[in-house]
Amino acid sequence: MSRTILPLNRDWSYAPFWRDEWSSEPFGSSDGAISVDLPHANVELPFNDFDERDYQFVSCYQKRVAVPSASGGPGPAGRAYLDFEGVASCAEVYAEGELVGSHQGGYTPFAADLSRYQGREILVTVKVDSTERPEVPPFGNVIDYLTYGGIYREASLRLVPGAFIANVFPRPGWIPSNGVSPGRAVLSATVFVASTAGPFEGRARLALSRGGKELARAEAEISVPAGGEPRSASGDAPSRGFELALGALPGIQPWRLDDPALYELKAELFADSVAGAIDATAARVGFREAVVRPDGFYLNGERIVLRGLDRHQAYPYAGYAMPARAQRANAEILKRELAVNCVRSSHYPPSRHFLDACDELGLLVLEEIPGWQHIGDAVWKARSLENVREMIVRDWAHPSILTWGVRINESRDDRDFYAATDRLARSLDPTRQTSGIRCHERSELLEDIYTMNDFVMGSGEVALRFQRQVTGLPHNVPYLVTENNGHMYPAKRYDNEERLVEHALRHARVHDAAAVNGDTGGALSWVFADYNTHFQFGSGDRVCYHGVMDMFRLPKFAAAAYSAQGRLADGPVLEPLTVWARGERSECSVMPLVVMTNCEEVGLSMGGADKGRFRPDRLKWAGLPHPPVEIRTDEGAWGMAWEDAVFTGYSGGRAMIERRFAKDPAPAALELAADVSELRAQGAGGAWDATRVVLRLVDRCGNHLPFAFDPVSVTIEGPGRIVGPAEFALLGGVSALWVRATGPGRIRLTARTPRVRSAPIEIDVK
Ligand code: GAL
Repeated sequence: MSRTILPLNRDWSYAPFWRDEWSSEPFGSSDGAISVDLPHANVELPFNDFDERDYQFVSCYQKRVAVPSASGGPGPAGRAYLDFEGVASCAEVYAEGELVGSHQGGYTPFAADLSRYQGREILVTVKVDSTERPEVPPFGNVIDYLTYGGIYREASLRLVPGAFIANVFPRPGWIPSNGVSPGRAVLSATVFVASTAGPFEGRARLALSRGGKELARAEAEISVPAGGEPRSASGDAPSRGFELALGALPGIQPWRLDDPALYELKAELFADSVAGAIDATAARVGFREAVVRPDGFYLNGERIVLRGLDRHQAYPYAGYAMPARAQRANAEILKRELAVNCVRSSHYPPSRHFLDACDELGLLVLEEIPGWQHIGDAVWKARSLENVREMIVRDWAHPSILTWGVRINESRDDRDFYAATDRLARSLDPTRQTSGIRCHERSELLEDIYTMNDFVMGSGEVALRFQRQVTGLPHNVPYLVTENNGHMYPAKRYDNEERLVEHALRHARVHDAAAVNGDTGGALSWVFADYNTHFQFGSGDRVCYHGVMDMFRLPKFAAAAYSAQGRLADGPVLEPLTVWARGERSECSVMPLVVMTNCEEVGLSMGGADKGRFRPDRLKWAGLPHPPVEIRTDEGAWGMAWEDAVFTGYSGGRAMIERRFAKDPAPAALELAADVSELRAQGAGGAWDATRVVLRLVDRCGNHLPFAFDPVSVTIEGPGRIVGPAEFALLGGVSALWVRATGPGRIRLTARTPRVRSAPIEIDVK
């Protein structure tokens, strides 16, 4: 006897409008409803130049759901809950015409109670309101991002006994070595138990294991009055929390950035009268101490400079509605390709898949409540407080989460409101520091960390303010820079070379200053990837070109300012920030030429002639582990001979990596590369699965042609579908698409421009 989770991601019927009778009646054959799978966007949008009102409408989803009888356990009968992980932005859920659940806000989960329909097949209707309702955060004023629409995360049916585990709050801790005793692990947890009818008497058990081997366990007698306590930790039923402690835990590995050890914590519920557990849940935990102090950030007692990026969860065409693999891929790009150690989930809780990947990869997360500059009225504030609760009780098990952001991004001080959000966060989770992102000086510090969007870097040389300038306080406090760059210096991936180089250097300068200043835990920059936005922001085409990558997560030069900070042992990086064409820049020279690399020195040869080796200026760049290398030679002036170039990265005198550039680039091949070669017909939890495929029109040296805008058409055969259009233009020699699996088999993809045809690639769907 235990809980059953049935994914409900397939075969919903969808109509992009709403009629009241649909709460109780199925779509008619003339209603034009279509069959869709989750995650689902209420409308597929163009890449740019669209009207953001296009997704702001009310739509309807229906599904016939067979609700099995939940095993009742002793006493009270079982319960059935329909769980939604994210619906943008407001939802009403009807079962056979009866309102069984509703939710305001697109970023947190909610449940609809289907218990009284057990043993029946019923019509479930979801009314989805994707308009910007001013009483719901982040709405009420303008915001610099889109919130899209639809049931855009997964849904499932949860069958539990009448008394069940509503949530578990694990508190794994790591007490760092003090030089005398070694570091050691501790773990306590609160197990929240709901009893939905009569009182419940029984036992709760916690067991910690790794790789299937149990390491420790604890048990407690519990007694839950009927109904539990009014404030629930799960959202669906009132529950009561019970404390369990596992005592001393020898042999535990701490969760570290380069070795994020994860353990499994299983919670079980036993009833006195029944053999075996009546309910069980599992969470992954990591043992670490993560704290921002006045002199910087410490992980397990070791000072680490945080170097990170902010991230929106939006993708081209599908908006928010991308599946687990795409969410996880973003964490992988951040950690492995961009070598950052933290990410801010701006400006709302992200997909759980993203957080799972952060736990596994060793990527720290600043998570925050939905909002952008605007604070609404009392109803709005109450909803925002609810967001604090929903965010924390959903995510408190993730070791990657460093701090809870409990302010509306860049809003004014509001003592009563922010004292309340801070108090709530501390009462729910006393183990993590609170923060709240602001952009003004001398803000009242109610939280643990003063988190500041510092856009001081304009045309001047100052990259970051010192924290006392910002806080106005006479002493240092725990401090983090949470944004910079962004709108101060937008750059398209195919912009002029000078602009792209300066864009990259600005990112490098900020992270250099964060390390040198020594009064901040580090800096996170705006932003990981370009994103669609409202007309009030961005370049007018509904895109903010603020990313170090474009919307497809394809790198601009600025991406190399990050990737070059990775350890050489994780792979050599060598990115000369040039298109290697003499006439691209003002005054027609490629010098000074900036190279981002994690090698010790860079060699340049032209036309086979050695032009020297170059090292970074460590006096100018004292903070970055791997500063930019600046090359200045008198080569390549206007009118001189122009040659092929070879850049070589050396470390310890050995050549580690080479990049070649053609003097006379021309299209040699259209390359297709899928991120993965195998998809699943049913992805995680039965939701659909997809992979990105990158298209590059390359020259004979394998470099993409940076100003090629040729039309491309893509042909797909087999059980796959393209997310977005099959015909589009290359954007500066490169583009990408996502291929979605529609069933088992083999997908075959080819692409062609009027001049070049790609070789086919194959993706197996299992
Ligand atoms: C900040 C804001 C971000 C984004 C950024 C652009 O003020 O917090 O959401 O708009 O500016 O640089």
